[in-house]
Amino acid sequence: MPSSVEFALRCSGVTRFFPSGVAVDDLSFDVPRGSVLALLGNNGAGKTTTIRLLNGVLRPDSGSCRVLGLDPAIHGTDVRRRTGVVTENAGLDDRLTALENLESTARLRGLRGKTARARIDDLLERFDMSRQAGQLCQGFSTGQRRRVALARALLHDPEVLFLDEPTSGLDPAGARAVMELIDHSARERGRTIVLCTHFLGEAGTSADLMAVMHHGRLAAFGRPEELAAARWPFLDVYLDLGGPPTPEVEATLRGLVTVRAVRPVADGALVSVPGRDAIPSVVADVVASGGRVYGTRSLPKGLEDVYFAVQQEIAA
Ligand SMILES: Nc1ncnc2c1ncn2[C@@H]1O[C@H](COP(=O)(O)OP(=O)(O)OP(=O)(O)O)[C@@H](O)[C@H]1O
Ligand SMILES: [Mg+2]
Repeated sequence: MPSSVEFALRCSGVTRFFPSGVAVDDLSFDVPRGSVLALLGNNGAGKTTTIRLLNGVLRPDSGSCRVLGLDPAIHGTDVRRRTGVVTENAGLDDRLTALENLESTARLRGLRGKTARARIDDLLERFDMSRQAGQLCQGFSTGQRRRVALARALLHDPEVLFLDEPTSGLDPAGARAVMELIDHSARERGRTIVLCTHFLGEAGTSADLMAVMHHGRLAAFGRPEELAAARWPFLDVYLDLGGPPTPEVEATLRGLVTVRAVRPVADGALVSVPGRDAIPSVVADVVASGGRVYGTRSLPKGLEDVYFAVQQEIAA
């Protein structure tokens, strides 16, 4: 297990009430540095409140958080200096241009002169906003605002990034730029990222860890593949047989001890096996019984499957 300093984020029994009720309820989790955490859950589950607690904008009523070893309820300014946040509403100054918004944030962050200018130009380019740099933000579309907000959050190259629905309102190219940024920041730069999103496909490709919140509580937390392995002990494998299985091939598949289930499909069969090591012998047995195998594809369960399974567990 990583030591406490290797955890970029720690929550321990964090609870926060609003007059309407509890928004975050006894939340505990640890996130190692360099991880991407997908923070998931229905509308109102408590995701944004969790980010605000971690970033020191809100204080917990009980429990505590640590961000890079600091308590954001006490050292909020220090935490925010080392973190970047993109909120649901971009929070730009509409009376300023995109460039002016970035310049004023750069000044606040202690970035000046050529360094600031180079960084701003680089980020405007990364989010394809160079041409609109001189335009007032008030005329921007949702996606353009989001792009400027992302550039602003990254200005000081933060160690932890909180991204609250960063791709909502972005076109496909913008969404791809964000996902590439997440991958690059975490894999190559060791940054820690909290990604709140309702786009499970997006979360599934980038998350090392997933948290599913429900009414402020943590319904599931862990590595998607481990959460999946605990729910589905078998691996589904698609066998491309060039057509439906012949009676001989189907009988062979059903007779194999390694094969737990067989489902004939139009081009072949879906089989459940204990793991990928079982695939070569299944293929060999199909061939021995007169079948032809044109290809195999493992269909491991992932974040999206786990998310829906957890929702069902909650409802049960
Ligand atoms: N400033 C606030 N004042 C009062 N209640 C609040 C406030 N912020 C959040 N809440 C309540 O706390 C609960 C959790 O809200 P939160 O915004 O954290 O949810 P969320 O998971 O981010 O939802 P969404 O997916 O819709 O963004 C909700 O019931 C919400 O109404
Ligand atoms: Mg939210």
